[in-house]
Amino acid sequence: MNYRFSSRVEQLKSSAVRDILKLTQGKDMISFAGGLPAEELFPVEAVREAADRVFTAGAGALQYGLTEGYLPLREQLCERMAAKAMFVNPDQMILTTGSQQAIDLLVGVLTEPGDTILVEKPTYLASLQVFALHGLKVVAAESDEDGIIPEDAERLIREHRPAMLYAVPTFGNPTGRVWSTERRRRMLELCKQYQMPIIEDDPYGDIKFDESEQFPTLFSLEGQAEKGIVFYTSTFSKTVAPALRTGWAIGDSSVIGMVAKAKQAADLQSSSIDQQILSQLLSGFKLDDHIKLISQSYGERMLEMHELLKQQALPGVTWVKPKGGMFLWLELPEGLDAEALLRAAVQKGVAFVPGSSFYAKNPQRNTARLNYTFNTGARTKQGVERFVDAIGEFTARS
Ligand SMILES: Cc1ncc(COP(=O)(O)O)c(C=O)c1O
Repeated sequence: MNYRFSSRVEQLKSSAVRDILKLTQGKDMISFAGGLPAEELFPVEAVREAADRVFTAGAGALQYGLTEGYLPLREQLCERMAAKAMFVNPDQMILTTGSQQAIDLLVGVLTEPGDTILVEKPTYLASLQVFALHGLKVVAAESDEDGIIPEDAERLIREHRPAMLYAVPTFGNPTGRVWSTERRRRMLELCKQYQMPIIEDDPYGDIKFDESEQFPTLFSLEGQAEKGIVFYTSTFSKTVAPALRTGWAIGDSSVIGMVAKAKQAADLQSSSIDQQILSQLLSGFKLDDHIKLISQSYGERMLEMHELLKQQALPGVTWVKPKGGMFLWLELPEGLDAEALLRAAVQKGVAFVPGSSFYAKNPQRNTARLNYTFNTGARTKQGVERFVDAIGEFTARS
């Protein structure tokens, strides 16, 4: 038969990262493309022990669970949130299938098709896919090293009256940037003034290279869940393991209740086995020590890549050393199209994500995102050499 697809799906761009990952499978390819954590740092033994405890507790572990998620894990997460000055009770929290689902459900609950959503430029590409699937228009405010530029955001708010703001204020994807506290406060004020809810997406906040640095979340700055405007989401994907597919959202209990209703329609509940394993893990394993360990290792990996690129002194290639997160954001020489560069790079056996994927429109084409957490040592060195070769060859050709 001839299938008729919805216009929202037809216009959906497939994720460039996932396409590239497909391309790189089974080849001697060094990938700086995906946002993949380091597998050798996964706490495999601790997860296995936690799973054993879940299964020895009896068959009830395999039963359906609550849509809102496994209560003991929500209670444990409320304590972890409180340690970061985010005070919520379990009714103000829902567990989701990764934070990706939290973003999807919040957008579905708080917008209508045809609404506009405000983002920072550039922004996380899988969120752009969510917005497209919900039939939203996207407007993107300029940003610099201190994050979104409030004056540009206000101009867009006045012109387009967006229904909400989506942002990754701490170690953004793709740029690794951190919003200054002043800009966080200013954006909170603006969103309050124009009655715009905010999705604060924070998968990377824990991965910081200088432990002493504090970046207050928008949620903590607002200081209230009930009737608040900030909906905060985070995940275990970067701190424990992405395969456990467990994220959470917090905020006003009536909105969380609506999210639960939407979640019933989507999938009834996320995997309660995964949630029970995480709950056991949190009670037996020192997650904060593990987060320190991975943050230290990722800081070293970032420096490795930064130094290797610096040694090459590539003309016209610039970046800002990130203070946390998983990505280096490169500006390439003016006029160089990173999508074309990717094709040359893949021939040489290295992959990265062209920056254009992270723009809703008018992409800055001479940008690239490089992940530094998955590879290390000789692989990183060889990958950077291949990348540099590709740039050299490409610029000689064009
Ligand atoms: C900014 C951002 N938000 C959300 C996610 C989704 O993560 P998960 O669904 O694994 O929790 C990611 C994953 O890379 C991300 O980079």
